[in-house]
Amino acid sequence: MKLQDSKLNSLNDYKEAYKAAVENPESFWGEIANTFEWNTPFNKVLEYDWNGEPKTEWFSGGKLNITANCLDRHVKTNPDKVALIWEPNEPQDKAIKLTYKELLESVCKFANALKNIGVSKGDRVCLYLPMVPELTIAVLACARIGAIHSVVFAGFSASALAARIQDSGSSFLITADGGFRGDKTIPLKDIADDALKSCDTIKKCVVLQHTFESVSWNKSMDLWWHDFIDGLSSVCAPEIMDSEDVLFILYTSGSTGKPKGMVHTCGGYMVYTAYSFMNVFQYNQDDIFWCTADIGWITGHSYMVYGPLALGATSVHFEGVPSHPKWNRFWDVCEKHKVTHFYTAPTAIRALAKHPTTHITKHDLSSLKVLGSVGEPINEEAWNWFDTYVGKNKLPIVDTWWQTETGGILISNLAGVTPQKPTFATLPLPGIQTALIDDKGNVLMNKEAEGILAVNFPWPSIARTIWGDHKRYQEVYFSAFPGHYFPGDGALRDLDGNYRITGRVDDVVIVSGHNLGTAPIENSINEHPKVVESAVVGYPHDIKGNALMAYVILYEATNDPELLIQEIRTLISNTIGPIAKPDRVLIVSGLPKTRSGKIMRRILRKLASNETDQLGDVSTLLNPDIVDEIKRELTI
Ligand code: WTA
Repeated sequence: MKLQDSKLNSLNDYKEAYKAAVENPESFWGEIANTFEWNTPFNKVLEYDWNGEPKTEWFSGGKLNITANCLDRHVKTNPDKVALIWEPNEPQDKAIKLTYKELLESVCKFANALKNIGVSKGDRVCLYLPMVPELTIAVLACARIGAIHSVVFAGFSASALAARIQDSGSSFLITADGGFRGDKTIPLKDIADDALKSCDTIKKCVVLQHTFESVSWNKSMDLWWHDFIDGLSSVCAPEIMDSEDVLFILYTSGSTGKPKGMVHTCGGYMVYTAYSFMNVFQYNQDDIFWCTADIGWITGHSYMVYGPLALGATSVHFEGVPSHPKWNRFWDVCEKHKVTHFYTAPTAIRALAKHPTTHITKHDLSSLKVLGSVGEPINEEAWNWFDTYVGKNKLPIVDTWWQTETGGILISNLAGVTPQKPTFATLPLPGIQTALIDDKGNVLMNKEAEGILAVNFPWPSIARTIWGDHKRYQEVYFSAFPGHYFPGDGALRDLDGNYRITGRVDDVVIVSGHNLGTAPIENSINEHPKVVESAVVGYPHDIKGNALMAYVILYEATNDPELLIQEIRTLISNTIGPIAKPDRVLIVSGLPKTRSGKIMRRILRKLASNETDQLGDVSTLLNPDIVDEIKRELTI
């Protein structure tokens, strides 16, 4: 059997596959996994225990290298097929195309260079790079030699980078002099230098020359990328990995100040990203797939690198932003590269919808076949705009629900194959056994229901642990409803079994598609010497989906609140990154608290959302008067 034989071509195919995966998950996934190249076949498809300390193992005993599957396999049959089309920030005709053969050679060269400086299997390598082909090359080079990559989004600040280097114990850092973002450059090397002041595990820092701006240089530590690979062989035998060896760590926000390093392993991740990519997007061999995400997020890992490459697909990678140089950039790129699949985020759709549709109509978008959305619930208005102006009411739109933790898409319609329903992610993929649970832990048996989403059974690409903290993994994901995986999202289900994700049920706010834990932002605000305490909540925003509001209590009144607010915003930008800056900062004299001293965030959220008539009974608070005071402050 070939992987393509497990392509679901009709609603009936989907139903049959779903049933087969529930009835006999081992034979279902075993057959799919066997379509890949294993150096040693696996002897057990699935072993798991989600009741005690959670353990999930897929394809145990199997040995493989994911890059052999993503690159060498295709080089044997189709070496000149384009794997990657890179579109730079500046739109001059500088797009770069890399064939499978060229990509493999670049990966091997870089892998050999990594070996030369002593990187070996299991070492953590931190990648802090802009959206350039070298990021993909570095990711795959790590995987080639069994090093564990930890990609840190290039919009993160020095302290966020340092925290991730420290937590992962990375011994090597790969960065660039800088990155371009619209008309700005980001001084990545400077930021990295700053981060490294508090990291003592890094032995070498490899620097890609990209913006050609001058950077400071530490001779004992820094190496230029071009010198680093100079003269090296473009052949490098893949390290043979166990299916359950770690492939990468990717950090995501949680409800505490510390980011969670989600750990993904080789075999299951490869199988599920490829299977879900092929089926959700209905990718065909000559299609050009463009996901507008950044490789710094899971969407980039799974559907810009591993999933498409495992399938031998051609992907567009874009360095820039939708507004640069003008708001037609996305459509210009679609037309230029004859994109067939366009996968983006609701926040981008909402921002695009604010601009005249002539930006779209002047481009020939006839190559498009499938549209997709990811990252947050897509509201009806954004869905309709996407459908009308980009899809011309003809193209399927897949609304794909998943997470850093899930590794791949768990709930989505399959483009043109299963029914779509605006604002609904719709049905779980084969192998994904979902449930809705009420807050007392009862599984809601009615078809039509609203509750907390849970997954009852393992799928191959579930994150296996939190790096260095299995106890936290158990607490966050498996203790809410023992025996079930708890993703932290609420959902409702209609009579046909379609799911609509309603949003987070924990203290994570999704701003422009980025997960932001409120706790680290509060920690950062509290570092300001004038601040006693703070609380950060999300409220609806018409482009970003959610925006952040920070309520701040000071030790003593300030005569320059504007300056203080500015300082707080800068502090957040420096400790986490500009994406975490709150839209509103409100100085208050107290926060609504329960008698046990817990901040009532629900009330703060309602206040920030201007839903003051829905506050409920506040009389049981420790300090009910504060609610009126905040209401007054908000109306000033
Ligand atoms: C949210 C991104 C509604 C959700 C792949 C989830 C969505 C969190 C959707 C994970 C969607 C993602 N509809 N909500 N189609 N996709 N989310 O880890 O709250 O960056 O838990 O992974 O984004 O964000 P993460």
